Amino acid sequence: MDYAATSPVRSEVVKAMLPYFSQEFGNASSLHSYGQAASAALRQSREVIAKVVNADSNEIIFTSGGTESDNLAIKGAAYANREKGNHLITSSIEHPAVLNTMKQLEKEGFKVTYLPVDRFGSVNPKDVEKAITSKTILISIMHANNEIGTIQPIKEIGEIAKKHGILFHVDAVQTFGKLSIDVKTMNIDLLSASSHKICGPKGIGMLFVKKGVQIKPLFDGGAQEFHKRPGTENVSSIVGFAKAAELAHKEMKKESARLTRLRDKLIKSVLSSVKGSRLNGHPVNRLPNNINFGFVGVEGEALLLVLDSMGIAVSTGSACSSHDLTPSHVLLAINPDPVKAHGSLRVTLGHEIKESDIAYVAKAIPKAVEQIRKMTPRIEGVTTIDE
Ligand SMILES: Cc1ncc(COP(=O)(O)O)c(C=O)c1O
Repeated sequence: MDYAATSPVRSEVVKAMLPYFSQEFGNASSLHSYGQAASAALRQSREVIAKVVNADSNEIIFTSGGTESDNLAIKGAAYANREKGNHLITSSIEHPAVLNTMKQLEKEGFKVTYLPVDRFGSVNPKDVEKAITSKTILISIMHANNEIGTIQPIKEIGEIAKKHGILFHVDAVQTFGKLSIDVKTMNIDLLSASSHKICGPKGIGMLFVKKGVQIKPLFDGGAQEFHKRPGTENVSSIVGFAKAAELAHKEMKKESARLTRLRDKLIKSVLSSVKGSRLNGHPVNRLPNNINFGFVGVEGEALLLVLDSMGIAVSTGSACSSHDLTPSHVLLAINPDPVKAHGSLRVTLGHEIKESDIAYVAKAIPKAVEQIRKMTPRIEGVTTIDE
């Protein structure tokens, strides 16, 4: 129940990867037949991944994952366009891979606008347009939020970026292979994706870089990945990523409908059986696999541990901040009350989740909430269950 953090590698993916550890171990840059086999696998994988977002295969750059893709897109575009301007626009609910990259650029003299979101976590395209100045070089908005699942109006923002001649980066780590993405009709210049969120191996991802868009590489080295990301390619993981992407893309429509149905069933059941519960994020415009509950008078971490003892793995925010007890920046952005931000629980579904799992969790959550509420002293005026 924590698929947004990571997912199990599918057996088909493991099978596709195995030969590339032994028989097909070549370096894709070598000229001999071992190298040629690796290079062919790389080429085929690039084609499969490009198809998922309607890109050309030479627009796909393999990286070590979503974090590196975000860094390469944002820093790469900022450094390459420094003479054009020093202003970037993003939202206040981006993943740390984007937010901390922006903060680093601010230390280097760039200016960043962090756009607010409404109570559902949606960015208003009008706010994007209003924030544009003559110095703006990049707009970076995530496709869907990893904590609350809200899907952003990417096409509308893409149109604005195009109209003003500004580069547009989209962090699609939570949507690649899950929602349909067309970099052409959405006017996207740079798009980040990661393999381990779609039942592929960890430590591999990609950055789509539209033909003609200039980015400065973050590393110095060889000519791999069209001179944009040096280093010997991780062929086995790339093959696994491509297999996972191919399966996710093929099954997307059916799987999305299945997960949406399971998601809504669990939401309905918990909201109707637990007093003082709410749904964080957008009621409809949200990822098919994402649920984020808020429970009055309950610490998310305590709930997580009780559910873990029942064999259910969930999250209280993004995995990257789960060792940090300060309220999530995403929940604070949609509701500035830190008490409410504390009592949140993220449940994210995926490939192996069945109807029976949902029934089990739907019974377990009310029990766990009740158990914690019985143990927790209520602070007058702060934690009223009847809201
Ligand atoms: C929206 C978003 N961006 C970026 C990342 C980072 O991806 P990776 O774990 O592949 O570095 C994540 C992972 O949680 C994410 O959810």
